[in-house]
Amino acid sequence: MHACANRYGDTFTVRLSGLSPMVFFTDPEAIRQIFTGDPDRFQAGRANRVFEVFFGPNSLLFLDGARRRRERRLLMPPFHGRRMRLYGEIISEIADRSIDTWPVGRPFPVHARLQDITLEVILRVVFGVADEARLFRLRMALVEALALMDVGNPLRPIRALWRLGPVRRRIRELLHNEVRRRRAEETGERTDVLGMLIDARDEDGLSMSDEEVRDEVFTLLVAGHETTATSLAWAIHNLLKSPGALEAARSEVMSVIGNGPCPPPPDAEQIGRLVYLDAVIKETARLHPVVPIVVRQLAMDDTVGSARLPAGSIAAPCIYLVHRRPDLWPEPNSFDPDRFLGERTDPYRFFPFGGGVRFCLGAAFATFEMKIVLARILSRVKLQPSFGYSLRVVRRGLALAPSSGLPVVRPAR
Ligand code: HEM
Repeated sequence: MHACANRYGDTFTVRLSGLSPMVFFTDPEAIRQIFTGDPDRFQAGRANRVFEVFFGPNSLLFLDGARRRRERRLLMPPFHGRRMRLYGEIISEIADRSIDTWPVGRPFPVHARLQDITLEVILRVVFGVADEARLFRLRMALVEALALMDVGNPLRPIRALWRLGPVRRRIRELLHNEVRRRRAEETGERTDVLGMLIDARDEDGLSMSDEEVRDEVFTLLVAGHETTATSLAWAIHNLLKSPGALEAARSEVMSVIGNGPCPPPPDAEQIGRLVYLDAVIKETARLHPVVPIVVRQLAMDDTVGSARLPAGSIAAPCIYLVHRRPDLWPEPNSFDPDRFLGERTDPYRFFPFGGGVRFCLGAAFATFEMKIVLARILSRVKLQPSFGYSLRVVRRGLALAPSSGLPVVRPAR
């Protein structure tokens, strides 16, 4: 991406075999036009459709138009406000349980542990207190599917999607059974996402079909897990490389939540006061956005910036390049959370969660979860970088991640 930007400037076209031409944009004004443009002309659902075979046809990711608006309204509530904050305690508990098992005195890849945490969180949030054996089968199948997508070459995930057939079918069946079983149950005040989706009604009083719930639940499980784990891994990497920021983050957590070997889980009000940690998470997302581009396919010929784009081409606001433009971010390659302290962010210069009407549905939830997990880690263990580790950026599933699972050491004392 850097090579293309250096050679061709703010706007350049990438042609990958089997995909429509993708026009990368790195100018905030062009990105504003794309994000605020008519979603029926700049279609995210159509542009994402290469992944449909994996997620299923009813996933929000592939919908455009009226159906997308309906589905998004039904999916939103659990991931915001009071309902979202109900999950704080579960997240703390899951993080603590994992931290308790981290080895002492020898290097271990922390990314895998973070993935265990975020997978468990999203499974619990989606399914509530479900039958352990069924959850186990689902967890195993998900881990298998994600491992199959976990390959080094940027083009291979797209081809790998076709190899996922059998495990994908198994997951669909498990989810379908779960949906049918839950639909047959008495409804009460359900607080898990699956229950809420089953109970949700649109403006015409209609509920989602089994197939819709199945594909949306799968989307949430996948979209909500790997991205959050990888962002956490980058945050840890950045903090371990910046002792000043690490100290500032740790003392904020200590002063807001308390000291001691195992302080109580933070409540929502305390989490809101972790402003430095919030800046650490934002600066991590600026420097290491796990999703490097977002995509919109043009329904008709259109002009973006000075580029005339034919119908069918894909406009791709490039998160990674915009976040590293030296004219927007002084010393763009250095990790400096202070740049986010007290600053309102401009959604066309900083957009780790995409933008416009397709802005990540789980952004608030992911930030809430990352703050809790990092607060638990900072207050409970003093991690150190593993000696001799030299970082490369690698592809994990669809995300960009630190190499070798980010080895770290938890010292004996
Ligand atoms: C740090 C973690 C995360 C990152 C970096 C991230 C990033 C993104 C990005 C870049 C998009 C595309 C937005 C666009 O096209 O403009 C997206 C969409 C989406 N994300 Fe996330 N995401 C994260 C966590 C989550 C979580 C936790 C969930 C669910 C619980 C989630 C659910 C979704 C869904 C459903 C969409 C599709 C929204 C739509 O098309 O309307 N994400 N995310």
